Amino acid sequence: MAILGRHHWLASSQKRLLKGDFVTSPEISQIFGELIGVWIVAEWMSQGRKSKGIYLMEVGPGRGTLMDDVLRTIKNFPELLNAIDKIYLVEASVELRKAQHKLLCGENVLERNDIGFGSKSKHSDKLEIVWAEDVRFIPKDAEQTPFILAHEFFDALPIHVFRSVPPSNAGDETIQTPTGPIQTTQRSSSASQHQWRELLVSAKPPHRLKKARRSLR
Ligand SMILES: C[S@@+](CC[C@H](N)C(=O)[O-])C[C@H]1O[C@@H](n2cnc3c(N)ncnc32)[C@H](O)[C@@H]1O
Repeated sequence: MAILGRHHWLASSQKRLLKGDFVTSPEISQIFGELIGVWIVAEWMSQGRKSKGIYLMEVGPGRGTLMDDVLRTIKNFPELLNAIDKIYLVEASVELRKAQHKLLCGENVLERNDIGFGSKSKHSDKLEIVWAEDVRFIPKDAEQTPFILAHEFFDALPIHVFRSVPPSNAGDETIQTPTGPIQTTQRSSSASQHQWRELLVSAKPPHRLKKARRSLR
């Protein structure tokens, strides 16, 4: 369970990741990212060594270590390096985007573009790195061949969301029952304490939910 809120774990996890309070495989050894790089090379070879239209995408790149190790490995295969059109990084955190830019691009400037931000890789001026806040901003092109990485990403997304509800100031409570509302005369003991309420997590974005609600009317 991840606890949401400005001062809780999920919100502060970006800072923890930057400080190194928790560690993921790419941070333990460069071999992890190098092996993923070798896997991309092997897949590219087995798919017929396309000479253009390849793009790499990483969702939730953290400090950028995994992509840095992947690119350093791929640099040894110039044919593949030339076939890569772009590298897309999907990152929601501004702090981590800055850390990724520093590691992957060095002194190359970070500029705004149509979908977020862009810069050049420190490994090769030909490699353009593009940041987007949401995966839906990444252009879709059926002619392109994506290699998508998502390491320790899905487990960072909330599955169950709970909200701590403060005690109610109202003396009496109205309880909805199948036969109608009933007014309680006594305040329940639990109403004087904070309570946890589970919220609904929907796979659909809010604008889609509004449309679904309208079609039910
Ligand atoms: C646990 S970290 C994993 C970092 C890295 N992949 C690693 O293995 O070291 C999760 C990453 O996903 C990012 N993230 C979390 N929720 C996101 C979202 N909804 N959209 C985009 N990025 C998100 C975080 O900012 C962070 O970079």
